[in-house]
Amino acid sequence: MKRVYFLLAFSAFGMNAYGQKTVDQKVAELLSKMTLEEKAGQMVQYSGFEYATGPQQSNSAAVLEEIKKGKVGSMLNVAGAEETKAFQKLAQQSRLKIPLLFGQDVIHGYRTTFPVNLGQAASWDLGLIERSERIAATEAAAYGIHWTFAPMVDVARDPRWGRVMEGSGEDTYLGTQIGLARIKGFQGRGLGSLDAVMACAKHFAAYGAAVGGRDYNSVDMSLRQLHEIYLPPFKAAADAGVATFMNSFNDINGIPATANQYIQRNLLKGKWNYKGFVVSDWGSIGEMIPHGYAKDANEAAQRAILGGSDMDMESRVYMTELPKLVKEGKVEAKWVDDAAGRILTKKFEMGLFDDPYRFSNEKRQKEQTNNPEHRKFGREFGSKSIVLLKNQGNILPLSKTVKTVALIGPFGKETVANHGFWSIAFKDDNQRIVSQYDGIKNQLDKNSTLLYAKGCNTDDQDKSMFAEAVETAKKADVVIMTLGEGHAMSGEAKSRSSIGFSGVQEDLLKEIAKTGKPIVLMINAGRPLIFNWAADNIPAITYNWWLGTEAGNSIADVLFGAVNPGGKLPMSFPRTEGQIPIYYNHYNTGRPAKTNTERNYVSAYIDLDNDPKFPFGYGLSYTDFKYSDMVLSSASLKGNQTLTVSVTVSNTGKYDGEEVVQLYIRDLFGKVVRPVKELKGFQKVAIKKGESRKVEFKLTPEDLKFFDDELNFDWESGEFDIMLGTNSQNVQTKRIIWTQ
Ligand code: GLC
Repeated sequence: MKRVYFLLAFSAFGMNAYGQKTVDQKVAELLSKMTLEEKAGQMVQYSGFEYATGPQQSNSAAVLEEIKKGKVGSMLNVAGAEETKAFQKLAQQSRLKIPLLFGQDVIHGYRTTFPVNLGQAASWDLGLIERSERIAATEAAAYGIHWTFAPMVDVARDPRWGRVMEGSGEDTYLGTQIGLARIKGFQGRGLGSLDAVMACAKHFAAYGAAVGGRDYNSVDMSLRQLHEIYLPPFKAAADAGVATFMNSFNDINGIPATANQYIQRNLLKGKWNYKGFVVSDWGSIGEMIPHGYAKDANEAAQRAILGGSDMDMESRVYMTELPKLVKEGKVEAKWVDDAAGRILTKKFEMGLFDDPYRFSNEKRQKEQTNNPEHRKFGREFGSKSIVLLKNQGNILPLSKTVKTVALIGPFGKETVANHGFWSIAFKDDNQRIVSQYDGIKNQLDKNSTLLYAKGCNTDDQDKSMFAEAVETAKKADVVIMTLGEGHAMSGEAKSRSSIGFSGVQEDLLKEIAKTGKPIVLMINAGRPLIFNWAADNIPAITYNWWLGTEAGNSIADVLFGAVNPGGKLPMSFPRTEGQIPIYYNHYNTGRPAKTNTERNYVSAYIDLDNDPKFPFGYGLSYTDFKYSDMVLSSASLKGNQTLTVSVTVSNTGKYDGEEVVQLYIRDLFGKVVRPVKELKGFQKVAIKKGESRKVEFKLTPEDLKFFDDELNFDWESGEFDIMLGTNSQNVQTKRIIWTQ
């Protein structure tokens, strides 16, 4: 009993069991010494001067002066042991010597880059995804970075939106699981570890639902859809202890996210009891003026702080306006204390008050540059992200001794393009990146010949290289085409109204096809593209995304069979832009089309088939997997029981392979309509040729819950279809009854 009193005594004075001050105690003490201006300063973040990831406002001299005066809490786009140390030294000249936080977009790798995030999602491999972020964090932290602006957990159903490339696609469950794996990878053993960085759940919220897929555009939806589809990955991130949140540029139902009290105060900091801090997106506080939600900087700052935005990235209104707002009584000082306190808490947790320079270490930085182990992992991750869409006549895998191969297309010898968007930490040292040509060359037999023709540019109307490409194809036994969209045609501010191959690439493909040579088409993109002619006329197609530093080797590993592709699409691929938004977990409507071609008096287009070109969860393998013996532990359950669902998956083909077994449910009747399918589980299993695996899932009533029209989150008694399969269209179904 004495020990309890002892502990109580200490905690009363904010001491832990070892008589040390708790972080809360340290923060409270520091706040008590700070002026209002110094507190507001902690809420200010500026970008470094080397490059900008937003509409840059550069006045570097002024920024450096403000750092010295303790009026800057964080910098982004400042990296490297030397550079971060230099900026940190400036902050140590301030009165209270409060260290800076250094943030950066570590989105899909750092010095070693990995597949773009949508490609990573196609691996459906949470272990690989977590490991990739562990590596990214280790490299970034070695470069003095404390904080990554990732994971992006925006659910997105519209491939016209360029930022689908940095997310996990259309599904809430898959996106939630992947977001959690990323946070675990980034934050590793915990904040303060020298190989961990603070993660940041972004963009809060519903940024991926921009009207028309046009970046930064408005979002307007029912609160029910917001809670059911777009918020769960953020709630899970908050519950998992993600260090920070970043809000989004868009307005949500008429109120910009940056000042949206409903999502940032009532939900995040209120109901979800979140204790981290929220950083605005680049300039989003000041952008409330063009939004028409604030008449000037003063009102923008007032609405943002009251709306729950703790740190102002680059709109530069907090520093000038917050002290005024408090002095004028328009904002209570407690909101500034709360925001500054949240930010200081993270600085203490990162150990920066103990040693502001602890992450800025030249030796560690050198060790983490061009790390061969990281590259080896990147090669594996790349090959596991590739999706095999078609393999008619089993053209793939190719033999390494094929006499003559022609690689044709604008991406064949590209290097930096393989990084895709958001690879800002990468220096332009091309020799580190394995091009597609090099990767294939590395694996072809020494007596084989690899020909190359660019054929066309990425995105113009120049057909002058067609003739040479056709002649090259005619000399080959097999042609590998590498086509798609330019690597910087997806990403931020990269919405496309038309999402086919860019430029004249499809025309080139048709010319090459006229030669009659067997063709393997590799598609490079950061989003789903529309390529109906290719899909209908080319026998073998792989979806390669952008695979990062080891791209060429990853691709060759799949082309020549060292790796049997096992990726599955994380988004539905539309037939035309007119079909968008198209997603698998849609409602049934009162007049559902029963087939892909039914048109009459059903929910369909008169001029287009109903299904997507390729469905969510779709991906082939070099081998064949057969599903059999689907078994449920019961066909009738009551209350809080657990349903066990199993199926036997047999590898009946010629190659060892990996299969992503997907579990979907359908709640047949509800107090609100329910989707025809909802992903509730998946397992990626490796099965050797000729072998079988029993794959088992558990479901509880927790998996049946949904938000009703009054936003109650619960489940109802009823009939449910339980589905298991290889993609969202090809499933086996059994029906059960589950009563409360
Ligand atoms: C950008 C992006 C955001 C990024 C931030 C800092 O505008 O919207 O995702 O983290 O600015 O670069």
